Amino acid sequence: MNRLASKGLLLFLLIVLSFQSSHAVEGMWLPHLLSNLNEKEMQDLGMKLTAKDIYDINESSLKDAIVSFGGFCTGELISPEGLILTNHHCGYGQIQYHSSVENDLLTDGFWAMSREEELHNPGLFVSFIVRIEDVTDQVLEGVTPGMSEEDRATLIKDKTRAITGQATEGTHYEARIKPFYYGNEYYMFVTETYRDVRLVGAPPSSIGKFGGDTDNWMWPRHTGDFSLFRVYSGPDGKPAEYSEDNIPLKPRHFLPVNLGGVEPGDFTMVFGFPGTTEQYLTSHAVEQLTSEINPTRINIRQVKLDILDEAMANSDENRIKYASKYAGIANYWKKWIGENKGLERLNATRKKREEEEAFDEWANSGGRSGKYGNVITRFAEIYDGENELNMAYNTIREAILRLDIAALSRRLDQYASDESMSREDIEAYIDRFYKDYDVATEQKLTAAMLAKYRENVVGQFQPTTFTELLNEKDGDYEKLTAYLFNESVIDEKEELLAFLDKNKKKRVGKKLRKDPLFSLYRDFAYIYNEKIQPRKRTTDAELDELYRTYMAGLREMQEDRRFYPDANGTLRVAYGQVEGYEPADGVEYLHYTTLEGIMDKEDPDNAEFVVPAKLRELYLKKEYGPYGQDGMMPVCFTASNHTTGGNSGSPVIDAEGRLIGINFDRAWQGTMSDIMFDPEMCRNISVDARYILFIIDKFAGAGHLIKEMSLVNTGSPVPADSAE
Ligand code: ARG
Ligand code: ASP
Repeated sequence: MNRLASKGLLLFLLIVLSFQSSHAVEGMWLPHLLSNLNEKEMQDLGMKLTAKDIYDINESSLKDAIVSFGGFCTGELISPEGLILTNHHCGYGQIQYHSSVENDLLTDGFWAMSREEELHNPGLFVSFIVRIEDVTDQVLEGVTPGMSEEDRATLIKDKTRAITGQATEGTHYEARIKPFYYGNEYYMFVTETYRDVRLVGAPPSSIGKFGGDTDNWMWPRHTGDFSLFRVYSGPDGKPAEYSEDNIPLKPRHFLPVNLGGVEPGDFTMVFGFPGTTEQYLTSHAVEQLTSEINPTRINIRQVKLDILDEAMANSDENRIKYASKYAGIANYWKKWIGENKGLERLNATRKKREEEEAFDEWANSGGRSGKYGNVITRFAEIYDGENELNMAYNTIREAILRLDIAALSRRLDQYASDESMSREDIEAYIDRFYKDYDVATEQKLTAAMLAKYRENVVGQFQPTTFTELLNEKDGDYEKLTAYLFNESVIDEKEELLAFLDKNKKKRVGKKLRKDPLFSLYRDFAYIYNEKIQPRKRTTDAELDELYRTYMAGLREMQEDRRFYPDANGTLRVAYGQVEGYEPADGVEYLHYTTLEGIMDKEDPDNAEFVVPAKLRELYLKKEYGPYGQDGMMPVCFTASNHTTGGNSGSPVIDAEGRLIGINFDRAWQGTMSDIMFDPEMCRNISVDARYILFIIDKFAGAGHLIKEMSLVNTGSPVPADSAE
């Protein structure tokens, strides 16, 4: 090849590569800062809206259609009658709550055919964001550089209380102030919370959880992960406790649904409440996460899952009792495995170390060493110094404090000591607790978790009573737990209720301390509260201060870099485009899946891959109504939006502000995005809005719900009878 030809080839390759490379935009951005930081880029990517269309405090804007769903997921308003769309796995706890062996909504699904049939969910709430304010100056007023972390925290707490108090005075709003960039900035979120939220519809798990834990965190995906709720207000439109007199909420905004479908390159935006990310962790922290914390947690959860697998396979009752718990444990177990792989593939520790070296050099030049000089050295010292403590901290939290019996003990302890907690309160808790509890399974879990704790944790963090008891039982965990459970009154509902009948509230605490299971919990709680937590808090406070300084330094050093704050449960916007990805050398994934794939995966002998008869029938008849495309039924699609846990249920919004899908997951190869984002690999997974409507309309026959919505079709006009 001559030089000219090779130059031409190079140019060609460059063009091809630049076309291929992703337009993913890293970051979860604050809605009220979009006009400065993001609006132009979003419009360059195809968005037809302005920043003001997304977030405005005077006119209605997209934000008025977005809710925090119960504080752990996101939901969106999709009708003028308070209809809310979220994921099946977000409504899962509620769907399960209304389920029993006889009336199994998990398996059969649920569709309210009238408002009267909608189901009340005690404790569930949704919150709107009324406005967001930068309150950094007020919060940090009086904070001085030399101040101790403790004094700083106290001062900030007092300021926070005063500012939020003032902001909500005379209103029914609530307000929260949260730190950003490790306490370099503070923003206040004024919220409006509704507590009458009813279950309207849920597909059977064979649709809403199709593919189960096998497909979880995976692409290609075929899960119809959605459910429907309705928010009710008092007759005056304001939040009100559940009442038959309440009326469906008239939202300030709701999202129209676009049936036009998605094509690669289409602009997408995800608007919701991402929970936690740690993008600015140092190399030491990433090293600790990948080599210690994640392996420990993965291992503990593996043990739990094995026990639950067996318990659930052998009993329908246990299958329902543990459905939600199992999904919760399996979810992050799998995520951490993917996260570790991704961080390794990205050489995350090395990349971080290089950044730190550059920072260190900058920090120790130009007269900056007084302020930033020792930051990197201190990080190394702190992270290396507390290995045993960290192991104890992670193990006690993951293995012991998460045991059901620990949660029950904690609540009983509270009942014994808290004047305001009544007999009815504790009984309501007990009712709900034992509904999802099986004593034999809990005993096995306890034995296995005690063994894990023993294995992982050094002597100074082992409760003495635990050591003594274990010795007494010849180091045999089954013997030990058999003893604990036999002698205890809290391991079974009737026993516990009889115990509470017999003992006055005043005496409950004293009596319970003689209960071996309860008192073992208390010994662990003591170790955690008195031995582990205080030391952990000391190192954490040092780390907080260091990260705050590091962050301030980074922003000073990289003046032109556009920073975004870590996710912290506050409302954010992520944006990118519809696109597939290349998960491995020689493999290319499309951006969408269809009903064909569901039929390919069908396996009547595997509960995760059962296809409901009605769905098969619709497939065979190709009865897709206005929701299909070219004779196919789209199911899920991928896009390059930076999302995390909490973003589940978030709307995926098109260039003109219409709903095209709901976010529910990320693809396996990109699960490290909480720590390090990779535009080539990180994809969020969504259910196509057309599949959702198809299931509601054709599968469930709940066309009355579609009629509430506002449909557009950028592809072809929607037939008038689409919801018949
Ligand atoms: N991985 C998704 C998220 O983090 C969905 C989890 C629910 N599904 C399940 N099979 N556990 O929440
Ligand atoms: N499935 C997650 C959620 O429940 C979303 C994610 O982690 O990508 O919020």
